[in-house]
Amino acid sequence: MVEPPKYFDRVLEFSGQELTIKQCYQGDVGCVVWDAALVLLKFLESDSFRSNRGNLEQKRVIELGAGTGAVGLAASLRGADVTVTDLEDFLPLMQLNIDTNKSHVKGTVTAKTLKWGASVADFMPPPDFILMSDCVYYLDAVDDLVKTLNDLSGPETEILCSYEERTIGQNLKSLDRFLKLVHEDFIVEEVPLDQQDPVYRSEDIHILTMKKT
Ligand SMILES: C[S@@+](CC[C@H](N)C(=O)[O-])C[C@H]1O[C@@H](n2cnc3c(N)ncnc32)[C@H](O)[C@@H]1O
Repeated sequence: MVEPPKYFDRVLEFSGQELTIKQCYQGDVGCVVWDAALVLLKFLESDSFRSNRGNLEQKRVIELGAGTGAVGLAASLRGADVTVTDLEDFLPLMQLNIDTNKSHVKGTVTAKTLKWGASVADFMPPPDFILMSDCVYYLDAVDDLVKTLNDLSGPETEILCSYEERTIGQNLKSLDRFLKLVHEDFIVEEVPLDQQDPVYRSEDIHILTMKKT
């Protein structure tokens, strides 16, 4: 009997290249590319990002809750040295996507396990950027996620966090808790819609930037 396919492709135009992201037909939420990831990924090549932050060449980048690794991979196409992280179960998917796109990578990209709240000793010194898309949805994980943001951030680290507004389940409570905690430790600003990609943006998807106070 022929095995049914495990993966289906999402092809994204980025930086003049085609980024092919393998997504799983079956699995947990991290198995597909979420819309908030598309918005953050496209913001990385926007005029606003480039004029305010220069290019990403040789910048150290860590992506949290990377799932497929799409956003971190995109940063590596622009020359960054990236570590995509998630729970251990996602290592094979992140590695598959790194292998699939390796000919386009201008910087470097590595997949590692990082459970929020755990030691970040292996990821020091603090990176230039922390990327995270659609990671604020599970109330019990919010405090650990903010601990990891605090532990990984140095005075120069900029966090770019995208999330989609949702009112179902624990999403609203999780977002409220997340915003309360990050405002205690970081200067938080929202990227206005008109500074985002003209196509890949949406009223209900937000990009926050955060720096330690
Ligand atoms: C909704 S998915 C988003 C995936 C990807 N960032 C995107 O936007 O396409 C949330 C991701 O967070 C990861 N995650 C959830 N709890 C986590 C934890 N405690 N530590 C590390 N990663 C976690 C999940 O495994 C999943 O990949």
